[in-house]
Amino acid sequence: MKRISLTRFLVEEQRLNNNIPAELRLLIEVVARACKTISHAVGKGALGEVLGTAHSENVQGEVQKKLDILSNEILLEANEWGGHLAAMASEEMETIHPIPNRYPQGEYMLLFDPLDGSSNIDVNVSIGTIFSVLKAPEGMGAPTEQDFLQKGSQQVAAGYAIYGPQTMLIFTTGNGVNCFTLDREMGAWVLTERNIQIPVDTQEFAINMSNVRHWYPPVTRYVDEMLAGKTGPLNKNYNMRWIASMVADVHRILHRGGIFMYPADKREPDKAGKLRLMYEANPMSMIVEQAGGASTDGKQRMLDIQPSALHQRVPVFLGSKNEVDLITRYHLEG
Ligand code: AHG
Ligand code: MN
Ligand code: MN
Ligand code: MN
Repeated sequence: MKRISLTRFLVEEQRLNNNIPAELRLLIEVVARACKTISHAVGKGALGEVLGTAHSENVQGEVQKKLDILSNEILLEANEWGGHLAAMASEEMETIHPIPNRYPQGEYMLLFDPLDGSSNIDVNVSIGTIFSVLKAPEGMGAPTEQDFLQKGSQQVAAGYAIYGPQTMLIFTTGNGVNCFTLDREMGAWVLTERNIQIPVDTQEFAINMSNVRHWYPPVTRYVDEMLAGKTGPLNKNYNMRWIASMVADVHRILHRGGIFMYPADKREPDKAGKLRLMYEANPMSMIVEQAGGASTDGKQRMLDIQPSALHQRVPVFLGSKNEVDLITRYHLEG
């Protein structure tokens, strides 16, 4: 196999398609380096004393794991000094993190879910890091939360790292989705898959079925129809998978198709589900669309939603296009 490194891929991509400015290239390389450091910590597990809870809560009211905090620090530390960013925002921080004055300011803004799949950390199941890149608005002064509230369609890049049997980095700059595998001995990211495409139809769904009694009718209808199998209205036998790490579920869907759902439910009407628009739904939606899939909040395209708050939550339906179109139609029909 001819080995193409991440650096070479980015340089050649810029030359061919002119869609990765030098500053963005640097940003992606720095995020990739931080993910390598996180992967190393994840791989050490108990030997690195990184497992377990930190006995603190984040702004979303979740108990933080040691790795949530450590990964957040690794990403902040790695991205502060490079000169390519104006500010950062994270699931684990109450508000934005402007670049300190001692460093040059750049034109991009980085958002991340430093450690996705926290409940899987202590049980040695795949977890990940999700990131999204926005441009700072023209003529921005000192960055504010408001500057981050851009639609997902404004993202200039989005990606995730998955820490599983292999560590992989998947990202898009708006020109397809490519996958890199970490060569652990060399410490290098190597291109292993180009232009990933999600099959448009599927027979596999992912949803936390323990919440079935809380769902709204369109979701109940759709899941009932899938469970009815070959003799039901959808005419297919479906299989189910739920890893409870969004990165791992999305990674599977990118490779063999499927639909991922985290719907709103009746428990807390304003809460709009569990997942966060800016750190989870938007970056994953850009990747999924770039791979030929679809993503909605049940009613509208995810990437068209105008965010109103940094930590906003949103219902998520993403993956194989025909299935996402169907559940979206069920919502619109009421
Ligand atoms: P995080 O660990 O970043 O807080 O995100 C966890 C999310 C997502 O990764 C996963 O799909 C979902 O929570 C799992 O939710 P359940 O606990 O309902 O299974
Ligand atoms: Mn969390
Ligand atoms: Mn997450
Ligand atoms: Mn997280």
